[in-house]
Amino acid sequence: MSKVVAIVGATGAVGQEFLNVLEKRNFPIKDLKLLASSRSVGKKLKFKDTEIPVEELKESSFHNVEIALFSAGSSISKTYAASAVSLGAIVIDNSSAFRMEEDVPLVVPEINPEDIKTHKGIIANPNCSTIIMLMAIYPIYKLYPIKKIIVSTYQAASGAGAAAMKELELQARAFLNNEPIPTKVLPYPLAFNLFSHNSSIDIESGYNQEEIKMIKETKKILHNPNIHISPTCIRVSTFRAHAESITLELEVSANIEEIKNSYKNFSGVQILDRPEINYFPMPLEVSGKDDVYIGRIRYDYEDKEKKVLHLFAVGDQLLKGAALNAVQIAELLL
Ligand code: A2P
Repeated sequence: MSKVVAIVGATGAVGQEFLNVLEKRNFPIKDLKLLASSRSVGKKLKFKDTEIPVEELKESSFHNVEIALFSAGSSISKTYAASAVSLGAIVIDNSSAFRMEEDVPLVVPEINPEDIKTHKGIIANPNCSTIIMLMAIYPIYKLYPIKKIIVSTYQAASGAGAAAMKELELQARAFLNNEPIPTKVLPYPLAFNLFSHNSSIDIESGYNQEEIKMIKETKKILHNPNIHISPTCIRVSTFRAHAESITLELEVSANIEEIKNSYKNFSGVQILDRPEINYFPMPLEVSGKDDVYIGRIRYDYEDKEKKVLHLFAVGDQLLKGAALNAVQIAELLL
């Protein structure tokens, strides 16, 4: 039952978390291949008690590989996923390359695990903001029909990769030392700042690509083309956990006690809702945690019918938003 596993993008922010998650969950591994660009050849990465050398990614890298976890960006996925599949591997792809293709399942294991059965060699891992939002609201979605989701994200630097996390650190130091702020990776200074998500804007609609991913992926994962979702995605000055303010417009009146109870039977979400001491989920506390945390669950102040709800969610972008979700998909394959 042990598998030969490859990690494409092993030296990246998500790649490093693949190693941690595979080790922590004791994923049955016969052999582990670490792949990155030629720049990383010579590096070794720690896995359990061994140090594994990083190899240069090539089309031939996938001989004997059974599961290939890709997280090196969408152009690398487009170039190499087909070779991996043709050599017999199942690809779990963290990029946006194949998410909307009809024969590629897009899976959050707690929500639509049965979709993996339809794969033809590639299974896509959803966008991090989509995963965190859907985990946060899925028990409510199961209880009551949702007409509309309005969501604002507060996204960490980690979503732009390891180099962006490093740049945020350098920017913070430079800012405090009154030095010029380096902006090689990120388009604008992020330290002590925030800006509209750095993906490109579709001029006609005014939505950026991150927002469009959230819209399209949500419909695909829920198999619900009619759900109306409107995101505003913002990059903020945090390292690795994304936060989201979510408003749900329901078809029927909600009951918050019933909602809170419904999360007890749903793994992967913790309720942290302590209004009496003003204590709710925070990126610093959720960083490094597997679960998505939710709080500030409340009825709309002015909606007497209780058909509008608000909540606040925080999830580690590198874990449930990326590496953990992908490894959970791999576990479903076992
Ligand atoms: P490398 O470290 O050798 O550049 P992040 O998302 O944190 O930016 O990480 C991106 C990952 O994708 C890194 O592991 C990086 O490897 C890898 N990568 C980037 N470009 C290539 C490439 N041309 N071939 C293989 N891996 C690549």
